[in-house]
Parts: sequence; C-alpha cells; structure tokens
Amino acid sequence: MFGLFKKRRDEQPKLNFEAIAVDMHSHVLPGIDDGAQNPQESIELIKTMMSAGIKKIIATPHVMNDYYRNTPESIKSALAVLKAELAEQQIDIPVEASAEYFFDEVFMELVEKNELLPMGKNYILFEFSFVSPPPVFIPTIIKLKDMGYIPILAHPERYPYYTLDQYKNLKQWGCMLQLNTISLTGYYGRETKLCAEELVDNQLVDFISSDMHATRHADAFVRSLEMPYVQRLLAGGYLCNKALL
Ligand SMILES: [Fe+2]
Repeated sequence: MFGLFKKRRDEQPKLNFEAIAVDMHSHVLPGIDDGAQNPQESIELIKTMMSAGIKKIIATPHVMNDYYRNTPESIKSALAVLKAELAEQQIDIPVEASAEYFFDEVFMELVEKNELLPMGKNYILFEFSFVSPPPVFIPTIIKLKDMGYIPILAHPERYPYYTLDQYKNLKQWGCMLQLNTISLTGYYGRETKLCAEELVDNQLVDFISSDMHATRHADAFVRSLEMPYVQRLLAGGYLCNKALL
C-alpha cells in the first residue's frame, strides 16, 4: 500500500525550469561582485540551479562604476576560475559570462567605445537604480540597436518610479525585459510582486531568470516554481531564454 502511494507521488510531474533551459542573469562568478565570494559558494548556487532544471548558465557580474569596476578581462578570469572548479568537481554544465551593466555615464562611455561583453551573439543586459530614474537613456538604446545589439532591461518590476506605459514604450524602442522569478514569490516585497504580475498579465516579459547572488536567492528560485504566475510563464511558450542555448 505504501508502494502504491509512493508510485502515485512519483508519477506527478516535477515542476522545473526545463522550459527555459538557460538562466541568463546571475552572480555566480566567484569574488568579483556581491554574489558568490569563492568557488565553493559558486558551486552551491549552480547545483541548486541544476536541480531546478537549468541546463546552461550565463553569469552576469555587476559592472557598476562606484562599486564593481569589472572589465571583460576581470570577468573572463573569474569565469576561468569557476570552470576549473567545475571540472575539478566533475560538474557538467555549460557556463558563459556576460555582465549586468548599471546604466550611468560609464555605461554610456562603454557603449560609445564598444567595450561591451554581450551574451549570446548580441544581447546586453543592463539595470537602473532602484531609487531614482536613470539619465536620458533612449538615445543609448537606439545607439545599441544601431550597433547590432539587443538591449535587455533587468528586473523591470523592481523600479518603483516606472509605469506600465513606460515599459510598453521601452519595448517599442526595441528593448527586451527580463523578470526575476523570485519577484513573483514576494521576495522583494508586495509592490514588486504586484508589478511583476502586471508585467506577466500584459505579456511584456521576454526572459526570466534567477538573479542569484546567494543561497537565500537559490531557495526562493526553487520556491518560485510553486507560483502560478511562474508556471504560466513557463507554459506560455513565448519566453526567449532558449535563444541563448
Ligand atoms: Fe543582478
């Protein structure tokens, strides 16, 4: 009888992130920003992602002038350290590196000089301040597009000064939007959760990812699979994460 119950439980499909396969926003490179501080912490986070069905990881350390002055060289060197540790521990998952650019004057200079580290062939992930609107940025979006890049705004649900109409406008300029799945658990608070739900309801979300820095995010990432909004996104078939496979 116990065997029967066990079988029924095993037959239930296990929810996971296989439908997107690629997590394209995380801070799992060791020691270069406020994410994993050493290779062992990186491995812990990566193991959680793998257990949740992620098949490929694109790490995106902060490039932020006042705090994290990462360059393509510092990022590639941290990636090499991580890859060596993965090989050492015989953990088999492709990991690539790009960046999460803070939108400020330094980012605009990097765009002008074309000193960017894109993901995939040509995607550029960037973020705004959580407290104040960015400087004039549409010209930079246009410039990126003219250079052949596709800009992606990270976690739009986390900018309380921005409205739904402004996000719609941003998309019309050719900017894509990446939602943090943990926003839909309420991890960042009620307002962020409601904004995330509104973005999903309006089909404005192009990518979802973990934005994983530490185990508290890893736990929330796994828990987010229980959220109906996350399940709806995974079943929707319109997310673009797999374009990065
Ligand atoms: Fe991030």
